[in-house]
Amino acid sequence: MKKIGVAVLICSLALGLAGCGESEVMVLTPYGDAVIRDEGSSSASTQTQAKQTEKEETVVQKETEGKADAGGSSNLIQVGFAQVGSESDWRLAQTASMKETFTEANGYKLDFVDCNNDQKTQLDALEAFVENGVEYIILDPIIESGYEDALQKAKDAGIPVIVVDRNISAPEELYTCWVGSDFEKEGVDAAKWLDQYLEANNRAEEDINIVTIQGTVGASAQIGRSKGFNSLLSSHSNWNMLDEQSGDFTEDGGYAVMTAFLNQYEDIDVVVCQNDNEAYGAITAIQEKGLTCGPDGDIIMISFDATNGGFQKMIAGEINVDVECNPQEGPLVAELIQKLEAGQTVDKIQYVEEGVFPAETAADIIDSRAY
Ligand code: AHR
Repeated sequence: MKKIGVAVLICSLALGLAGCGESEVMVLTPYGDAVIRDEGSSSASTQTQAKQTEKEETVVQKETEGKADAGGSSNLIQVGFAQVGSESDWRLAQTASMKETFTEANGYKLDFVDCNNDQKTQLDALEAFVENGVEYIILDPIIESGYEDALQKAKDAGIPVIVVDRNISAPEELYTCWVGSDFEKEGVDAAKWLDQYLEANNRAEEDINIVTIQGTVGASAQIGRSKGFNSLLSSHSNWNMLDEQSGDFTEDGGYAVMTAFLNQYEDIDVVVCQNDNEAYGAITAIQEKGLTCGPDGDIIMISFDATNGGFQKMIAGEINVDVECNPQEGPLVAELIQKLEAGQTVDKIQYVEEGVFPAETAADIIDSRAY
């Protein structure tokens, strides 16, 4: 009864609330909707829509059924996590953060699905979570669009959905909350670093040719980083964005795209890789061409994620700056689940903390890094 108990606010504790009579209780769903239920007549009415009430009543019943089905006699909280895939070091670090958090020792039973960067697989995983009656769903959406139906099914079944890392374009009443990165800010931070770096190296007036190796097209990490970085192009008329192609957040993709760029463009000054793995591939491609990159190299290399591998490449002198994307979301998500279990409200949107690490700071910082 944990979830039902925490979702109900007895009106006797909130007599001041409008529309709540003596025999009525107010039910808060994990989506933030309020429902008033008449305990005496067992009929219900919402503050806004009668139809909605029926749905919320169903929610309460299904939650009870789901818990019995999935949990049996166990007290463990059933959590389903539909992970993007395993395309990058960052992704592996985020998976580790979730798996280390949602252990049986910590009171959870985790159903982890690696969706292999395939949205159909991810939608199937969400449907299976609902059918199996998990108590919470964690969704890291591969791309921003296409989740409405799956989220509606989870909502109808009364299962809170916590979206992590990447954003979705679905209406926010379809999920409980989101915790992740400010990707647009990451892009802006990268461009601001470049501006200061060029200034410090007396190149502020030079023509600067830039290429971008994008992440998976349609993923908010790609959309936000592109938008943020490119927002500074108009205020730098000497910055020329020669090309932007997707490397799908992988090392192989970074290598292939950089090889093509080097064959097509003679004078590349800056490469923006939208994650560390793409940067590893791009560095190999650059070196195969007999060129160098990094602080003393021919090409300025900007990367995102700031994983241990990225730090090592900075120490090796091959990446100039790494803009952090923090994968340690497990404990934050667990905190949200515990709040929901306790009947507390949670913030709809929460950003993780992130920094910018230029190469000259890498050697001093690497040992203090957790991923
Ligand atoms: O959504 C976060 C991004 O996805 C990370 O930058 C990247 O490494 C991962 O694959």
